[in-house]
Amino acid sequence: MLNNNIIPANASSIKIASNILRENGIISFPTETVYGLGASALSSDAIAKIYAVKKRPRFNPLIVHVSSLKKAKQIGIFNAETQKLAEIFWPGPLTIVVPIRENSLISDLVTAGLSTIALRVPSNNIALDLLNYCDIPLAAPSANLSGTVSPTTAKHVFDDFHDSVDIILDGGRCEYGIESTIILSSKDGFKLLRAGYITEDIIEKELGIIVQKYKSSAIIAPGQLEKHYAPKAKLRLNASTLLKDEEFIGFGKVPDGISSTINLSINGDLVEAAMNLFSILRSIDDLKLNNVAVAKIPNIGIGIAINDRLQRAAI
Ligand code: TXA
Ligand code: MG
Repeated sequence: MLNNNIIPANASSIKIASNILRENGIISFPTETVYGLGASALSSDAIAKIYAVKKRPRFNPLIVHVSSLKKAKQIGIFNAETQKLAEIFWPGPLTIVVPIRENSLISDLVTAGLSTIALRVPSNNIALDLLNYCDIPLAAPSANLSGTVSPTTAKHVFDDFHDSVDIILDGGRCEYGIESTIILSSKDGFKLLRAGYITEDIIEKELGIIVQKYKSSAIIAPGQLEKHYAPKAKLRLNASTLLKDEEFIGFGKVPDGISSTINLSINGDLVEAAMNLFSILRSIDDLKLNNVAVAKIPNIGIGIAINDRLQRAAI
């Protein structure tokens, strides 16, 4: 199939995308984490399309993207600590869940009826230009079919949706390649709901306050279903040997005796591994591999998020 709804992101395609968004259409755009499937957060019609094309359960709420903290504060309620958190890490790969304002105008479908809302100011220039130009808060889940691997290129988005998305703005590969960290700002302080590039250690160091730790086995946020990021292949994690009929995904130096052509980062660089992770998970399905062994990934920094995604992919 022709992928003629992929267009390079530039000033004129951003205008076209904005017009589609204003008419309650859906588009895909790059962020520094993964590609998003964007629609006006003010329009229930537009949001209904997102749930439909993603085949996403309606109880799993969406993240709303805005161009600034000022705009975020028109939608959600930020206490002093939360405002500080946003000032330090926005724009960037961090989503903050706060109580929603009663007069926010955000469609109830976005929050799946919760009294809180997930907000994020992305740092990717294309995403920011789009948000500034269309001047609408954009609900944008990752642009993949529900339960599958998030997209880090425009082609990944096309592979899942073909032309059921009006246009896909192509901004090349995503810088981080793993979804944003999600922090819940609650009465009892900050809770990590999803691990990402910004770890709880980094937040604790910057703000001098404790972040309640994330347990990858607990379903804390609605929609944080355990099975996720699921390639068709069966994954075996923390592998140092290769069983019969397995392909190996390495990280750094591959154990003696294993010949591996797939490597998350030959130099053992966790940031590079995160960037490559979803492309590699998608490619093992393209290669029709059935059994895959994945090397041990150090559980530090962004390695925590990589291991979280791998564990969900391996279920
Ligand atoms: O990096 C990202 O965050 C990407 C890019 C496109 O910005 N977006 C993304 O969206 O990963 P999505 O829909 O794939 O993941 C959103 C997560 C879900 O696990 C959802 O349950 C959670 O955010 N979420 C949304 N609203 C929430 C809320 N009010 N309370 C708790 N969790 C919430
Ligand atoms: Mg997602």
